[in-house]
Amino acid sequence: MKPFDLVIRNARCATAADVFDADIGIRDGRIAALGQGLAAGREEVDAAGRWVLPGGIDGHCHLDQPMSDGSKMADDFLTGTRSAACGGTTTVIPFACQLKGQSLRAAVEDYHRRAEGKAAIDYAFHMIVSDPTPQVLAEELPALIAEGYSSFKIYMTYDDLKLADRQIIDVLAVARDAGAMVMMHAENTDCIAWLTERLLKAGRRAPRYHAAARPMLVEREATHRAISYAELVDVPILIVHVSGREAVEQIRWAQGQGLRIYAETCPQYLFLTAEDLGSDDDFHGAKCICSPPPRDKANQQVIWDGLESGVFQVFSSDHAPFRFAGPDGKQVAGADASFDQVPNGIPGLETRLALLFSHGVLGGRLDICRFVALTSTNVAKMYGLYPRKGSIAVGADADLVIWDTGVERVIRNADLHHAVDYTPYEGLRVDAWPALTLARGRAVWRDGAYLGEAGRGEFLRCALPTPAQPKPRVEDPA
Ligand code: URP
Ligand code: ZN
Ligand code: ZN
Repeated sequence: MKPFDLVIRNARCATAADVFDADIGIRDGRIAALGQGLAAGREEVDAAGRWVLPGGIDGHCHLDQPMSDGSKMADDFLTGTRSAACGGTTTVIPFACQLKGQSLRAAVEDYHRRAEGKAAIDYAFHMIVSDPTPQVLAEELPALIAEGYSSFKIYMTYDDLKLADRQIIDVLAVARDAGAMVMMHAENTDCIAWLTERLLKAGRRAPRYHAAARPMLVEREATHRAISYAELVDVPILIVHVSGREAVEQIRWAQGQGLRIYAETCPQYLFLTAEDLGSDDDFHGAKCICSPPPRDKANQQVIWDGLESGVFQVFSSDHAPFRFAGPDGKQVAGADASFDQVPNGIPGLETRLALLFSHGVLGGRLDICRFVALTSTNVAKMYGLYPRKGSIAVGADADLVIWDTGVERVIRNADLHHAVDYTPYEGLRVDAWPALTLARGRAVWRDGAYLGEAGRGEFLRCALPTPAQPKPRVEDPA
């Protein structure tokens, strides 16, 4: 037997299910053995006293996604995966976005070209379905799901992406038949349009009015509607980027009914509030424009409670990287553009894990196994990458992170590795940061240095995430 390429000694391992002490023997990019006193490896790392966790999987991030408003995402697969690796993430799942009028397959092919030769860590694709033509519904979507693109996102708002209600039902039915996972952006588009019009007529143009145009009822109503359609069609869905109490109440109700409604939340709903959108004469608040918007402190607590109690299965970054300065980011419509002209989304790939580890695990709110479940294992299961990804087990990819705790670090954009010119978390304290990130057994981040290699990341085909369908709750007349 060949010697191990690397042995991590004295690891305090945590998975979504267990905590155990072991040496980890790595060979050919995989975990080859777990045990005490493993034979010597060609290289050895001592992890004594430190947590060793599965690498993070960011199941919701946007990289080099074509935009229809003239803006451009700052991060491509090179800078995005570099940033992810430095923050302990070893797999990303960004979106191959279908533009209206474009075939879904063309969108997927275009996205492969964008990723080719650039990624430093492994990646899979979700699709975004914005134009569910008969051809897409009958042929392209089922075929692509079967080929390893087993999840897709649909939008209930944004003019260039949103689906009408009947279209939502139709795509959910395709997902049910094909066994795909559907991610839903739940905000009521007509309420937003009505409120936006009134705010602009009243001269309320500053970034802070973005939050006024998208109050919680907008999210609550759409969340309930999404749940109802999922129940009607009898298909599991994931409500993404849940921001606060009213949507959480709908989700908790649905889960209590036994419906397969899953939920995702993101750092912005734990660490930002609507106050970060600034004052009337301050365009800097545009940095924190994302949808749904950050709420208030009481809602942050509701999100923490939901992470702790199991309402949420997934914690993603929703990294949507637009520069603040320059003509193609937040200021694409000018430095004094009204809030509705500002590209939505904020960066967060690199800071996602450290923020949750520090304020969740070390803050005494989450146990370590739930942290692993939320940031890695559940994501792998939901999108059909488990058990290759998201675990510490013999045969799994050696995607591992050794964590330093007690580091007392302050987040500074200057220290991050994305291509965005700000972080909304500037100045926030974290007490944990990866000391070593291994992607398929190779160090991509070690003691403060990026060691990744563009093109080493592989495309991952996702298996079907959904188990056999139980009996429908609403009788299918067909
Ligand atoms: O504001 C956000 N969340 N922008 C990114 C796109 C999306 O809806 O996830
Ligand atoms: Zn969204
Ligand atoms: Zn997103």
